[in-house]
Amino acid sequence: MKTTAQAASLEFPEPIVTDLQTGSMRENVRIERASKTIGQLRHVFLDEQARNSLDAETVVYAVEYWRPVSEGTEGGLYWGNSTIYPGVVGEEFFMTRGHFHARKNRAEYYVAVSGKGMLVLMDEHRHASAQEMSPGTTHYIPNRIAHRVVNIGDAPLTFLACWPSDAGHDYATIDEQGFSIRVMRRGERPEIVAQP
Ligand code: NI
Repeated sequence: MKTTAQAASLEFPEPIVTDLQTGSMRENVRIERASKTIGQLRHVFLDEQARNSLDAETVVYAVEYWRPVSEGTEGGLYWGNSTIYPGVVGEEFFMTRGHFHARKNRAEYYVAVSGKGMLVLMDEHRHASAQEMSPGTTHYIPNRIAHRVVNIGDAPLTFLACWPSDAGHDYATIDEQGFSIRVMRRGERPEIVAQP
């Protein structure tokens, strides 16, 4: 019966397809997409002069995400991917803006699919650490921990993510204070430098 089918479709969202080779998502109109360009990432990188010298339209990272329940729903989960393109701003590798969760006691999983990266983690006392990302590395981001991903390779870095639907994003704290470490390209190697 129609009413039963409608109720069921709300209760049991239709699956999507995640391509496990590439991390991309398809076959569902509800997949949402967004990207961030060099021009949109003001004051994220150390060297603003270098950022201003780059093409503002260059995409630094792009995301796809699936929200089977509405934003803020308690007890739900979201699923997404991020692809960070290779590149540098001055000496600093392309990376995500990074965030705490707005609801601070919410955790998250990241799973690297392709490329080479660093996951930068930082607690509320600005103690920071970085974990290497390569295909298959699976990262548990505890609650109250800010997170940012840096592409340290010369190919796109793609990872999958799963996070609570009521986690939200607190970008403002990072916009104001930044992370306490940065990942720089020094020669051919990544180097982690302190940023008080
Ligand atoms: Ni998050």
